Amino acid sequence: MTVKEIQEEILKLKKEKDICILAHAYQNREIIEVADFTGDSFALSVKAQNVPQKTVIMCGVRFMAETVKILSPEKTVILSNPTAGCPMAEQMDKELISQVKEQFPDYTVVAYINTTTDLKTVCDICVTSSSALKICKNINNDKILFIPDCNLGDWIRKQVPEKEFKLLNGGCPTHAKISASEVDKAKALHPNALLLVHPECKPEVVEKADYVGSTTGIMKFAEESENKEFIIGTENSIVNNLQLQCPDKMFYPLSKDCICSNMKATTIVDLLNCCKGTFGEEIELDEETRLKAKACIDKMIEMG
Ligand code: 13P
Ligand code: SF4
Repeated sequence: MTVKEIQEEILKLKKEKDICILAHAYQNREIIEVADFTGDSFALSVKAQNVPQKTVIMCGVRFMAETVKILSPEKTVILSNPTAGCPMAEQMDKELISQVKEQFPDYTVVAYINTTTDLKTVCDICVTSSSALKICKNINNDKILFIPDCNLGDWIRKQVPEKEFKLLNGGCPTHAKISASEVDKAKALHPNALLLVHPECKPEVVEKADYVGSTTGIMKFAEESENKEFIIGTENSIVNNLQLQCPDKMFYPLSKDCICSNMKATTIVDLLNCCKGTFGEEIELDEETRLKAKACIDKMIEMG
């Protein structure tokens, strides 16, 4: 079968079987083309609440499929490839954070959405890269324990100097691969390009950027900018997506290594097999855990 034939079969099956396909913007292009919704973590977590279909296939990583299930327990939620985890989400567990909380009892625990459901049960509020700044500014406490991403936490801390932040040593191994020397090389090679980076990058990369934001933020900025050239400091799918969306502009990857193997784990054949019901993993959460984690996500949606 060709990719086009597989895509046509997926479109047919999702209609017949009342399936909604959600795809994070880092997914492969052929998957994005057949998705009902695509976007960053925040957009997808909000969308997940309101889709009419009874079955949702989440093309992304495990914590994203868990978020959909937390918000829509009545739906059948399928993770498109059971091996697709997020290494950052697996860096810290409930036991560790419970111990840290004992040391800092007067801090509000702000958890990046890239955390497990189990960990969310001991946190106060979730954030995504696009909602973190607003939420940290507006939280009714001037002491914030921000987990797990210390790069995102550092970026927020610098913009909210009136509050005290405690950061732990976690983060995204994909974005952490980008070095400041790669920035210097890319800028020398493309002197007219603007540098757009994700806040999961290291501080020494973030501070050289012309714009810092979530995947959707980066895409929106590039689409609306008068500039014609951009260096993209996030997962390299965004370079490809932008190049297709804005064929009159030029997009260069900041680093050829910024590829998330977990986000790339799902293939178009995996998605076809999920629609047929022969692949993917149905997400199941026990009700007590789900409700505790949901309180954290509900607060994010309310404040974000
Ligand atoms: P956003 O989609 O919120 O920008 O997050 C990036 C990411 O690394 C998702 O895993
Ligand atoms: Fe996790 Fe980073 Fe991959 Fe996103 S890009 S899924 S944060 S490892």
